[in-house]
Amino acid sequence: MTSALPYANGPIHLGHLAGCYLPADIFVRYHRLKGTEVLYICGTDEHGVPITIQAEAEGVSPQEIVDRYYENIKTSFAEMGILFDNFSRTTREIHHRLAQDFFLRLLEKGYMDVREVEQFYCPNCERFLADRYIVGTCPHCQADRARGDVCEQCGRWLEPEVLIDPQCKICGSRPSPRSTTHWFFKLSEFQESLEQWLAEKKDWRPSVLNLCRGWFREGLEDRPITRDQEWGVKVPLPEGEGKVLYVWFDAPIGYISSTVEWAELQGNTDAWRTWWLDHDTQLVHFLAKDNIVFHAIIWPAMLMGYGQYILPGSIPANEFLNLEGRKLSTSENWAVWLPDYLREFEPDPLRYCLTVNAPEGRDSDFSWRDFQVRNNNELADILGNFVNRTVAFVERYYGGKIPEAGALATEDREVLAEIESAPGRIGEAIERFEFKRALRELMKLAERGNKYFNDQEPWRTINDDPGLCAATIVTCLRLVSAISFLGEPFLPFTTHKIRCILGLEERRDEVHWDDAVWETLRPGHRIGKLEILFRKIDDETIQRQVAKLGKKEDKEIVAPTPEAKEELGIEDFSKLDLRVAEVKTAERVPGTDKLITLQIEMGEERRQIVAGIGAEYEADELIGKKIVVVANLRKVKIRGVESHGMLLAASHQSHISLVVLDRDIETGAGVS
Ligand code: 2FM
Ligand code: ZN
Repeated sequence: MTSALPYANGPIHLGHLAGCYLPADIFVRYHRLKGTEVLYICGTDEHGVPITIQAEAEGVSPQEIVDRYYENIKTSFAEMGILFDNFSRTTREIHHRLAQDFFLRLLEKGYMDVREVEQFYCPNCERFLADRYIVGTCPHCQADRARGDVCEQCGRWLEPEVLIDPQCKICGSRPSPRSTTHWFFKLSEFQESLEQWLAEKKDWRPSVLNLCRGWFREGLEDRPITRDQEWGVKVPLPEGEGKVLYVWFDAPIGYISSTVEWAELQGNTDAWRTWWLDHDTQLVHFLAKDNIVFHAIIWPAMLMGYGQYILPGSIPANEFLNLEGRKLSTSENWAVWLPDYLREFEPDPLRYCLTVNAPEGRDSDFSWRDFQVRNNNELADILGNFVNRTVAFVERYYGGKIPEAGALATEDREVLAEIESAPGRIGEAIERFEFKRALRELMKLAERGNKYFNDQEPWRTINDDPGLCAATIVTCLRLVSAISFLGEPFLPFTTHKIRCILGLEERRDEVHWDDAVWETLRPGHRIGKLEILFRKIDDETIQRQVAKLGKKEDKEIVAPTPEAKEELGIEDFSKLDLRVAEVKTAERVPGTDKLITLQIEMGEERRQIVAGIGAEYEADELIGKKIVVVANLRKVKIRGVESHGMLLAASHQSHISLVVLDRDIETGAGVS
């Protein structure tokens, strides 16, 4: 099983989670309980324009961006209980090696060739511009600043040539076409094989099949799979100097490289083979609809061309999740970020809410109010309440020990029959990727439990008919125990708690999904302490969340405290030429939030540096400050503006503090 590799250019938000991580995790956990051998693979997608755009927006290197978000994303997933077997990164060496091998093999087999193409080039930035780096007026709806690949206002696909008055997104200059060469993957040659292969996938979601049919109707075209860029997997040929593989060519190979890395970490370097070469393996790619074409057409064609590897067995693509009735937008901060969520709430209520509202057949919506209602009225009042009243009853009337059930009444037998068929019902829905329905089946058990408890009135029968009362309570405990296993794919934290309360947690690994309902608590078994499963969420808390939406300053990035770096000798440190400088003038780089251009004086010398401190500092307050600069850094262009050197500053989360001097000293003085 795989989930789409998230770009390491920002934290994970609810849309990502609902799209392909949560459903995959449910599926994986279910299969583990079923005893299926599963491997769940993921990692961060660390190349491509989304990363370089983010780096430029922040005025830092792409490496810094991906290092930060790899940690951030990995932590969020772990805290949400998304249980990958391996979470790799596409900047790792193993990935570069495999991606280059893929490229060379396709070339050798004649599935690629080099072609000359015209592409927009920015004379000021001195580089070819990716489609997304070109903005202009949309020819269809006249929207300003439409991107060269798509107009966000009218949603139409664009080509940079059709934009009216095109501009370089970075510096605003007018780019002009220039010729360059690229390697093309001959996708057109795979159309027939792909059509035949997909014709057999009758049980795939219609949205996936329809999209593919549309592509086939239009006819598949050969696609350039290299780019004129620095950041990415280098084209492994001398004539490919200055070019990298297109991110969508290298990213899916990440599924394989992450598996190979997993095998190495296991100490069994061949272990990846079963997963990718054995034709009994079912390869399942979880993703959201914007990724369908890459996984259902281009990636299978790459795999066919390469030979040997298995092809995707299922692609359960989800639609999109909206937020409070509006399309998610990361640039407008119309999103709920996982690190923010996890600071205030437990993971399970979100897992629950996103599964109940899963965008399975069509787009769906998340609203904070719905989240509150589902937490309070469903999780707390139905599930939490049922577990609570059952366990509390055992504590109060049986001293915390499981009673001996007498003869079962008809009502008890009815409930037991429902428990017995539950693994089949829930499992069938999960296997069809209908997670919403599966979760509803689970919740029916808790609802049934409450109704049964009310109808049987054990608080009355404990005196009138103790045998009947014991049968009721033992049946309720059966239900609670069944929920504690069958609910695990959806609510892993809660079910763990329930098993601890019941004293069943030690048996967790021995229990098979199909037998979970027969896991009995022997009479006399002592159960553990009751614990609150779900806390109610009040209106004020919800209002605070709603108020955060769309406010940019609230988008907190939790940068992890940097890890300790390797030890250096003084000779390494002395390579840095650190000097005192005074800020003479400071000005914001137009069109950016964070970048400030500084003219600095360093002894005799004057020079210009660009610093990414504009979110925390006003340009004016910098003038006259004495700062410390790394003077021997090579010149670079940031957003088209030359920067020669770098100032020192401390940063924590989104806070920045400049390194300044505590006594006055001449500019140009060395710092060591
Ligand atoms: O759309 C995205 O977020 C991509 N980073 C998904 C890549 S999936 C796979 F191909 F790696
Ligand atoms: Zn430019």
